[in-house]
Amino acid sequence: MNEKQLAGERASDYIKDGMVVGLGTGSTAYYMLKALAQRVQEGLSIKGVATSQATTDLANKWGIPLVSIDDVSHIDVTIDGADEVDDHLNGIKGGGGALLYEKVVAKASKEVIWIVDAKKKVKTLGAFPLPIEVLPFGASHSIALFEQKGLQPQLRRSDEEIFITDSGHYIVDIQLPQDENVEAFAAWLDTLTGVIEHGLFLNMAHTLIVGEGDQVRIYK
Ligand code: 5RP
Repeated sequence: MNEKQLAGERASDYIKDGMVVGLGTGSTAYYMLKALAQRVQEGLSIKGVATSQATTDLANKWGIPLVSIDDVSHIDVTIDGADEVDDHLNGIKGGGGALLYEKVVAKASKEVIWIVDAKKKVKTLGAFPLPIEVLPFGASHSIALFEQKGLQPQLRRSDEEIFITDSGHYIVDIQLPQDENVEAFAAWLDTLTGVIEHGLFLNMAHTLIVGEGDQVRIYK
């Protein structure tokens, strides 16, 4: 079994009958969804809140019941992947482009669990480019500002076309400056007009499940 599968399957054990569950996006979340679908087939009763169209499609295909985030007062637990996670369980997310809905769902959740393979557990965030979701209107100005600050922005493309998020925005991937205080950097990003959201998820995850070789390690 690969590391993503190990982490994803273990995470599905955290889902209990009657819960409202935030359903993450990506290739690791895929395994959690598959394991969850199996448990739903066996009689587990949950309501899922999907973080992307891709996850909605998988849930529908596999018979996982979904509700809109606006039809629930809270989410009991969210299980999602991440691109990098440090020792404080701060992370970079958005490699799959779903960071905006993922952050909205995480913030509405009582518990957030991340599932990753071992190479994503890092000492310092920033080897993975930081995804920034920007408004298409004026995006060139956001990109110019990042360029001016030496952040090496790249407008994300997919098959030569500009990548468009589920909510109709662009993604600009930037380099997190070395030795940057991530809290201060996130606070700066939050001030920028045209920036819809960014992939720094700080103080949000409660539990990290790492597939490592043929084992699972759990950090809190
Ligand atoms: C999508 C995400 C994903 O959770 C993240 O990119 C990890 O994906 P994967 O499990 O495929 O490596 O943040 O926006």
